[in-house]
Amino acid sequence: MTNYLPILATTFIFLIGLAALALVVMFVVDVTQTSDAVRRNYPVIGRFRHVFTELGEFFRQYFFAMDREEMPFNRAERDWIGRAAKGDDNTVAFGSSKMLSAPGTPIFVNCPFPTLDEDAYEVQPLLIGPYSEKPFNAPSFFNISAMSYGALSTPAVRALSKGAKMAGCWMNTGEGGLSPYHLEGGADIVFQIGTAKYGVRDEEGNLSDAKLKEVAAHEQVRMFELKMSQGAKPGKGGILPGSKVTPKIAAIRGIPEGEDSISPNRHPEINDAASMLDMINHVRDVTGKPVGFKAVVGSYGWLSTLAEEIHRRGIESAPDFITIDSGDGGTGAAPMPLMDNVGLVIKESLPLVVDILSEYGLRDRIRVIASGKLVTPSEVAWALASGADFICSARGFMFSLGCIQALKCNKNTCPTGITTHNKRLQKGLDPANKAVKVANFCKNMIHEVEVISHSVGVGRPRLMKRKHVRIMQSDGTSIAMDERYPRKETLPQYAPKPAAE
Ligand SMILES: Cc1cc2nc3c(=O)[nH]c(=O)nc-3n(C[C@H](O)[C@H](O)[C@H](O)COP(=O)(O)O)c2cc1C
Ligand code: SF4
Repeated sequence: MTNYLPILATTFIFLIGLAALALVVMFVVDVTQTSDAVRRNYPVIGRFRHVFTELGEFFRQYFFAMDREEMPFNRAERDWIGRAAKGDDNTVAFGSSKMLSAPGTPIFVNCPFPTLDEDAYEVQPLLIGPYSEKPFNAPSFFNISAMSYGALSTPAVRALSKGAKMAGCWMNTGEGGLSPYHLEGGADIVFQIGTAKYGVRDEEGNLSDAKLKEVAAHEQVRMFELKMSQGAKPGKGGILPGSKVTPKIAAIRGIPEGEDSISPNRHPEINDAASMLDMINHVRDVTGKPVGFKAVVGSYGWLSTLAEEIHRRGIESAPDFITIDSGDGGTGAAPMPLMDNVGLVIKESLPLVVDILSEYGLRDRIRVIASGKLVTPSEVAWALASGADFICSARGFMFSLGCIQALKCNKNTCPTGITTHNKRLQKGLDPANKAVKVANFCKNMIHEVEVISHSVGVGRPRLMKRKHVRIMQSDGTSIAMDERYPRKETLPQYAPKPAAE
């Protein structure tokens, strides 16, 4: 019988020697390098700090963080979306883990006599763009927010388009142009015109009417959205790293392959409310479809200027909708200071914009779409009660696709295949399977918002008003939302004129 002992002993001593040598090399490298103070002062051991920091990012969410602790979305929210997407039982046991005393928390005012199921009525479609050639009667109040093909992978766009069709909601292309994958599911599409006009630009990067017409010729394309700004990066254009600019994406956007795709930080031809209205009316004339704009609100006096300009030109000239994005909105890649601290959050901006529109008598003319961390039924119900007509979600739908909040969307290494163009990683995302999850998430969201609306005693979600919500204050008591944001009367000069005798 062969005696393995000497071989094992030699191998063991060799490995120990190798490890000792590696330690010596690391020691010498650490004490001689000058870029990292910790490693220079604590050679070898200092390296563990980096290893643990890297690993902490992955393991925190599994082992250490509490259910309501993580940002941008905590485990309770992610789990709710996960269960809704799977179509699983979405009840929870024992009691709420939500800290209800946190200032700003909305509390819905339940009615002693809730709406009976048989008295509730179906969610109704809502018309957008009554003065355009082809207005859009939008069926769903919960829809998929702008995410470009480029930031998203091919299978992710395919799953979203199929899922949107199944759920009867719309899907926004984001600023990356219209791809065949947006269309293949058959869903309603909102085409976004970003500052670089990807997909509708001429050779010089200007808006091309011919391309606009081509896009509008697709019946599925129901509306056009002019992107003025987005919550994650107000005042900064889109950023798509060169590693994600594949030949297909380059062709759809009309840009060179493999180079960073950076769009201007504003539409060069729009520098005030009047030029914005010019552009909106131009796109509406060319396409015949409703046109609105998306912005995150910071300063807001310009909205009054815009409203006055609309009245000067006539009510038909108004944007057909305004999408208000929250200052804490998401994106594929953005500078941290803009993501963290620029732009009002939706809790503040939504009631504010709705009130300005009411004062100028434009509330029924301009539909209000809200977005920004509105991913659970209570947040969506809050937005409807505050005055939104529609809610859009981006990251909510990413979670329904299987996003695990790894926060690597800008690295082309997304482990779930959603935001990567690496074919190996995309394999995990089966569009047919995920489409069902996208649809389930949307339908279950609508269902649970209906449940809240019945609890407050109205027949359907859009009938919820500010009086149905109270807002938690810092002293642990709540105030009625219609006391905090009282109803604004239309200013006399903008009130509808009484009919002639
Ligand atoms: C991966 C990704 C890509 C996005 N791309 C766009 C875009 O092209 N245009 C845009 O207006 N907003 C874009 N957004 C912002 C979203 O449309 C949305 O306004 C924001 O994330 C807030 O909604 P949420 O909290 O539901 O994600 C993107 C967001 C994400 C996460
Ligand atoms: S899994 Fe991570 S990298 Fe992929 S989409 Fe979600 S947050 Fe982005």
